[in-house]
Amino acid sequence: MLRTPLFAASAATFALILAAGCLPAGNAVGRPPSSAAFVGSETCKSCHAEAFASWQESWHSKIVRPAQGAFLKEAVEKWKSDGTNAGPTVGNVTGKTFKREDVQYVVGARWKQRYLVKNDQNGNLQFLNMQFNRASGKWEKYGQKNDWNTQCATCHTTGYRITAFDDKSGKTLQSDFKELGVGCEACHGPGSAHIVSGSRRDIFNPANVSVQEQSKVCGYCHIRLENGKWKTAQGAPREDFPAPEAGRSYIAGDDWTKWYPQEAIIPGVHAEDPFDKEYAGDLKGLFLRDEQSKASGLYEEAKHHQQYQGFLQSAHYRLGIMSCITCHAPHAGAGKLKKVADHACNSCHDDSYTVEKYMPNTGKTADNLFVRSHTFNKQPRQGGAGAGSMGIPNYYGD
Ligand code: HEC
Ligand code: HEC
Ligand code: HEC
Ligand code: HEC
Ligand code: HEC
Ligand code: HEC
Repeated sequence: MLRTPLFAASAATFALILAAGCLPAGNAVGRPPSSAAFVGSETCKSCHAEAFASWQESWHSKIVRPAQGAFLKEAVEKWKSDGTNAGPTVGNVTGKTFKREDVQYVVGARWKQRYLVKNDQNGNLQFLNMQFNRASGKWEKYGQKNDWNTQCATCHTTGYRITAFDDKSGKTLQSDFKELGVGCEACHGPGSAHIVSGSRRDIFNPANVSVQEQSKVCGYCHIRLENGKWKTAQGAPREDFPAPEAGRSYIAGDDWTKWYPQEAIIPGVHAEDPFDKEYAGDLKGLFLRDEQSKASGLYEEAKHHQQYQGFLQSAHYRLGIMSCITCHAPHAGAGKLKKVADHACNSCHDDSYTVEKYMPNTGKTADNLFVRSHTFNKQPRQGGAGAGSMGIPNYYGD
């Protein structure tokens, strides 16, 4: 049941009302000029202290960090063993032995943590063979055999680009990026012109485009896909989505859904890759496809970082009435990115619509640890354990 008279109107009226309010009429949308370069989040701080502070507290700024000061305290204490499993000892690509002191960067902290050491065969970074699960406090196997720089980095850095590749195989030979983590320019585009002009014309603000385009800004990373155009250094299809041309970076506001469609599988986004199909490789089992899904026509996310693909299926998206940033405000909240996403429901629905009930934890991120579904199924499933109750982690102060 919808709460207010406004929202109790028919879905069609509702869509019209919201669409009208979402696009500032007659306001040209700012875009960085084609000559603009990435300058890094520190550069924005002097003029946007408040936006900077809220970003710095968010998880976006923290996904990949230099190891010192960013190790989970518990992981360090259990590095040799958690009582059941031994901690990490070898690099997955080279098979060489590594100590904790060899770890250069850590990836993640909220749900799980993975560890990066040098791959001395090519200068990239490879993963250690175990990851730490924060919910269970245990080590679990992590088998990723591709370098971080060529398998994960587009979604975990800002201004990523391929700079050299092998023509025949598509293997990524060299790449770079401006900044570790999801910086300001991941959502606002490269800022070199804007920091000089101080003009809205030279910078992208997701708030100024349609709700569908807004969600695409987030969907570029909150998605699961198989990339057959660009391969990892080891020759596997990439799981991230670098720009079509080497030397170029993704720019917030780009319509990446139209990039090299013949060479990428993006379930739920490309019409020829439906939600209810059986996929292989990393895409195997990415959606729940049981009787319950078939009956409701909603295929809940079974893995993590697929929020865009869950959301695309929802009435919320299909009616064109909201985007990711209706509920998540990248610039608010103490210690976390979202405003108070879990208070968002009651601005439109009655109190029986709770996050616990309608956003079950279905997307697996580690053993017995799941993230919330964004399909908004009115016949919701029973979810698993989520990160909600875990709180801010303790770090090891070395
Ligand atoms: C020298 C000061 C200065 C620096 C440095 C600066 N900005 Fe701005 N920014 C401004 C001003 C002034 C405005 C407001 C312009 C207006 O309202 O016309 C603005 C507005 C914005 C907006 C809102 C645009 C809109 O259409 O609503 C965004 C987003 C933004 N800046 C992002 C950034 C980012 C990202 C960086 C770092 C790469 C940055 N800014 C660095 C001065 C600066
Ligand atoms: C995850 C995406 C994301 C990141 C990262 C991000 N922003 Fe934003 N930013 C947004 C969105 C979405 C809006 C518009 C809606 C809102 O304010 O929540 C926005 C709005 C703004 C505005 C307009 C004024 C305002 O507060 O609404 C400024 C200025 C801005 N951002 C600067 C920055 C700076 C500086 C950084 C880095 C320190 C940054 N942003 C990082 C997504 C992001
Ligand atoms: C460049 C890739 C990228 C883009 C673009 C991006 N995200 Fe994220 N997002 C991430 C990564 C990586 C994490 C995990 C951070 C961590 O746990 O350390 C994350 C985490 C989150 C979280 C959970 C963490 C928290 O603080 O609650 C939310 C919510 C979120 N993103 C929303 C958004 C929204 C909304 C947008 C669009 C305005 C967006 N993201 C754009 C990569 C991205
Ligand atoms: C298509 C974009 C994308 C790719 C590719 C990607 N990630 Fe992520 N990753 C995300 C987003 C978005 C999140 C946060 C949302 C979620 O987990 O549901 C995340 C979360 C994580 C987390 C959990 C963070 C935390 O704080 O607990 C870890 C660890 C991680 N990713 C590691 C990796 C590794 C390692 C790779 C490469 C093998 C990789 N990711 C590839 C987008 C991506
Ligand atoms: C901006 C208003 C708005 C917000 C915020 C909102 N909803 Fe909705 N919701 C709607 C509308 C409109 C519909 C479609 C109703 C219809 O089709 O009759 C809908 C549909 C749903 C449905 C599907 C019901 C059905 O009949 O298919 C669920 C479940 C749901 N919302 C849960 C939530 C939850 C949980 C939250 C908070 C995280 C939330 N909504 C936030 C407006 C909103
Ligand atoms: C109707 C409101 C709503 C919309 C729209 C929405 N989310 Fe969420 N999202 C939530 C709530 C509520 C949570 C869980 C509580 C929280 O994190 O505050 C959540 C959690 C998340 C998380 C953290 C995972 C977890 O299990 O806590 C990520 C990442 C995320 N959302 C990304 C997105 C992205 C990307 C989009 C757009 C494709 C989106 N959300 C659209 C309400 C929404």
